Amino acid sequence: MALTAAELRRRSLAPFTDKAGTFAPLKAAVFVLVVAPGVWIAWRYFTGNLGGFPLKVLLNETGLWGLRFIIVTLAITPLRRVLQWPKLITVRRMIGIAAFTYSAVHLWVYVPYMAYDWGRIGSEVVLRFYLLVGTIAVLAMLPLAVTSTDAMVKRLGGARWRRLHQFVYAVGVLAMLHFYLLLIKTYDPEGHVLAGSLVLLLLYRVLYAWRGTMPTPWLIGLSIFAAAATMIGHAAFFAINSNGRLSAWAFLSSNFTLDGWMNPGWIVLALGLGVTLAGWIRQRVSPKERRRGRLDAGAAAG
Ligand code: HEM
Repeated sequence: MALTAAELRRRSLAPFTDKAGTFAPLKAAVFVLVVAPGVWIAWRYFTGNLGGFPLKVLLNETGLWGLRFIIVTLAITPLRRVLQWPKLITVRRMIGIAAFTYSAVHLWVYVPYMAYDWGRIGSEVVLRFYLLVGTIAVLAMLPLAVTSTDAMVKRLGGARWRRLHQFVYAVGVLAMLHFYLLLIKTYDPEGHVLAGSLVLLLLYRVLYAWRGTMPTPWLIGLSIFAAAATMIGHAAFFAINSNGRLSAWAFLSSNFTLDGWMNPGWIVLALGLGVTLAGWIRQRVSPKERRRGRLDAGAAAG
């Protein structure tokens, strides 16, 4: 029996069940994970536990979770392929909607943060580049969120829907740029880890589109490249912030000292190689993929 558009919409947005209506543990777990930070932030806000300037903390926390979920959304397709875990696709929409919700709340918090001074809000958004790119990112996420239901996929047709949803990569770049420009003011090592992860995911996307496959050695190479790019970006960031007093080279070499083992570049490398290793192990225990002799199954598009 053909489902109505309303039923398709309801089923595709149901947080605990799959399309057949049965309980889906992965979806339920991810739902709890995406909602928990919001509940925690809201609870701290409404109980007066967000410090002396709660709106500022609210702004930063919602922005950070928005960006984290954008990166996780971009990671779903590569993870699904490398780990040969098709079910991951069932949570991509939920994480994408979470990314949009946190980012939209972040934008909305900016209004009371600016004391509802609409004239100033308008001029700041237009004149400050980091706000302009952030606003474009939120606006670009809106059509993606609206068309995220199965009914909309059906209405637009698979190919058009996929073309539209490729904008999520542009959203990732714009949102990252917004944060990167802010990092100049407030150093946060996580920003560099997120930027390095974005480099890794974008390169994965480009290479996969080019070759239609991603053998294990390529994944290792990609991880090393993204880690090196993170280290260079991180060193350049410090050199620029020291107004030329310290050389980027000194910062770059600090990665190879005992104190530098937790630097963002190493974290990006650990993430990339960790996923590669997990995929390699998965390939060993999956005879079908082992026969193919490659890590990446190149399953359905997405
Ligand atoms: C997808 C869109 C966006 C994402 C992912 C995002 C993300 C972030 C992140 C990660 C931070 C830094 C948080 C921290 O320092 O811990 C931040 C700060 C901030 N964002 Fe956004 N943002 C977005 C859009 C916007 C928009 C549209 C506006 C306003 C028009 C905005 C205004 C701000 C402001 C004012 C800050 C704090 C600046 C400061 O610390 O002085 N953001 N954002």
